[in-house]
Amino acid sequence: MWWDPKVEEYREEVRAFAEEHVRPIADRMDRHSEFDPHLMDKMKQWGFMSLLCPKQYGGKGMDTLRYAVAVEELSRVCGSTGITVAAANSLGVYPVDSFGSQEQKDKVLPGVGEKGDIIAFGLTEPGAGSDASGTKTNAVRDGDGWLLNGSKCFITNPRFSTWIITTAVTDPDAGARGISSFLLHKDTPGFAVGKSETKMGLHASDTSMLHFEDVKLPDDALFGPRGDGFKQFMMTLDGGRISIGAMALGLAQGSLDIALRHAKNNLGLTGGINERQAVQFPLSDMATRVEAARHLVYQSAALKDLHQPFAKQSAMAKMYASEVGHYCSDQAIQILGMDGYCTGSEVERHWRDVRLCEIGEGTSEVHRIVISRYILKELDKATAPKKSVEPELAKTSA
Ligand code: CAA
Repeated sequence: MWWDPKVEEYREEVRAFAEEHVRPIADRMDRHSEFDPHLMDKMKQWGFMSLLCPKQYGGKGMDTLRYAVAVEELSRVCGSTGITVAAANSLGVYPVDSFGSQEQKDKVLPGVGEKGDIIAFGLTEPGAGSDASGTKTNAVRDGDGWLLNGSKCFITNPRFSTWIITTAVTDPDAGARGISSFLLHKDTPGFAVGKSETKMGLHASDTSMLHFEDVKLPDDALFGPRGDGFKQFMMTLDGGRISIGAMALGLAQGSLDIALRHAKNNLGLTGGINERQAVQFPLSDMATRVEAARHLVYQSAALKDLHQPFAKQSAMAKMYASEVGHYCSDQAIQILGMDGYCTGSEVERHWRDVRLCEIGEGTSEVHRIVISRYILKELDKATAPKKSVEPELAKTSA
């Protein structure tokens, strides 16, 4: 059971921050396709970029459940703010803290904890999206170090980032086991942030390309053991799915809240039996789905905090919450009618923003593949012949 007064107190704190500092500028950030720099400074001061960074480095050292609540509450008013925090923590801080050497952690994490430095995560490539092991970016031995070449696309936050972690093929004949990961500073010669994407939603979130052209890296830029890059990134995505689930949940809740207020204040809905069921029914369906999504997101966060296997649940949480976010923002537009459909309406922004959640950090189709692998394994385990009882033990119990 995750309900805990401390978690709810923290939710209130983040909600107050979001209402005071994010909601008033969310529409402007969306229209100008720019993350407000003052908001970014405030978020760094509050520690939103270092929620998962251990306290010993000056970070918040937060558990996954409260982290998910933070992403949910920020996303409830602004998807761009939610994804910026989610990517910085789940895809940036988490892998450095989990797979980095002590030297790498000491080099990177104090800047995250004390100043809110951001780390970008480079996996996707023009020819390697869902098929992440199709990576073409490569790193070859160059004296004592490495020479890195290639490009990454659709990467979140690189314009705000101080550090980059990226996958690259180091052993071309070894498949997924031939992919390693590297850590580099944004000022490393040969590295450049490329074109920024113009997107349907999440306008204030930075989505850009990364280019590596003969980037010379020292030996210790290798991140974890050679050949472990693909696994590290897959494990990172297992956790990242909790935060994108939380983001979709926040956008769903935000849409529901707006639709409810509209139904009560503008349509005079009170819940009577003969009253506008065309509005009552979708509101109830939205609320039920939001609760179900919340259960999945918090369950996967709680399992992660308990160091229990959580990858099946996080894939389910991300997939389901994304679809609930889509449904709720769509229904909210229907309930608000033209007030919802017109540009500048908050539900219209949520509708565009939440669409990313069914695509980014793994499509819903990839999640269905991942979930099917787990449930098929569970079936194999459940139907495997039981080990025969030791003869001695059998004698005793007889
Ligand atoms: N944890 C640990 N190890 C894992 C793992 C996991 N979750 N998933 C796979 N592995 C391991 C496997 O055990 C296997 O190891 P061995 O070789 O030792 O047996 C190895 O990795 C290869 O695994 P698979 O054979 O399962 O690999 P696959 O090619 O079949 O992977 C896939 C299939 C699950 C669809 C995977 O490619 C995938 O998750 N794709 C989606 C990628 C994705 O989400 N991309 C978005 C990234 S976000 C981004 O880049 C931009 C941003 O900033 C948001």
